[in-house]
Amino acid sequence: GRVAVMFGGESAEREVSLNSGTAVLNALLRQGVDAFKFDPAERPLTELLAEKVDRVFIMLHGRGGEDGSMQGALQQLKIPYTGSGVLGSALAMDKIHTKQVWQSLNLPTAKYQIADKSGFEAGSCSAIMRQLGNEVMVKPAREGSSIGMAKVTSAKQLETAIQDAFNYDNQVLLEQYINGPELTVAVLQGKALPSIRMSTPHTFYDYAAKYQDNTTEYFCPSGLSEQQETELAELSVTAFNALSGSGWGRVDVMQDADGNFYLLEANTVPGMTEKSLVPKAAATAGMSFDQLTLAILSTSFD
Ligand code: DAL
Ligand code: MG
Repeated sequence: GRVAVMFGGESAEREVSLNSGTAVLNALLRQGVDAFKFDPAERPLTELLAEKVDRVFIMLHGRGGEDGSMQGALQQLKIPYTGSGVLGSALAMDKIHTKQVWQSLNLPTAKYQIADKSGFEAGSCSAIMRQLGNEVMVKPAREGSSIGMAKVTSAKQLETAIQDAFNYDNQVLLEQYINGPELTVAVLQGKALPSIRMSTPHTFYDYAAKYQDNTTEYFCPSGLSEQQETELAELSVTAFNALSGSGWGRVDVMQDADGNFYLLEANTVPGMTEKSLVPKAAATAGMSFDQLTLAILSTSFD
């Protein structure tokens, strides 16, 4: 069948998507798959019909590609696509709704508050700091790759960071900072791949630490005990399923000094760039990048 690899798009993560999509397209072509690039920022979606596409490999990150809207459009065009459906995509894109679902199921996640652009009062920042602790993460509800995020340690910084985050979304998540390490678990076809531990000299694992400099250290295997690795794998699969995630994805987690895990968020179209995490986890599991892309492609039949 003919495969459109969809990447680029118009979100703030366009650059990351271009890298992810190019890597995936090349891997598919190397394996003899009849695949081509389709950037929805450059062509109307209906051209997929004229292209006689059998499947779409979604490699768009962020809003418009990872949030359920593209998934719904492809469903209307009756074209199968990789990864999660409308509900799973929409829930996982939104860090606030994600936490609400996890909380309702008693899955561990750090305490939080919500700042809403329409009703935000700067005077509330001191009380928020008191409630969430001395270190708070500020996150636009629906972004990826740490775009618009900040770590703050005072009410004044909190106010500035919230105002900045409102440039990205009307809803902003304010979350108690858990002093890591940060771990991540790739989920492929219902199973967890080996966890990865990230170590960064940056204040947190931000955009530059993810893609731009080479200061981040990655450990896979992550160094957890066998028992903790199993616990984290189960937690991650449960957390992904709780959001109606399917096919493949990645769950990000913090581990505190006492060894407790705190779920951060889930990604339904994780990065597939040279520096990305899911390919590292797959490699540790003995799966090459090429094999990984074929496994993900097969999720479009789920
Ligand atoms: N949002 C980026 C692409 C990731 O989760 O890898
Ligand atoms: Mg994300």
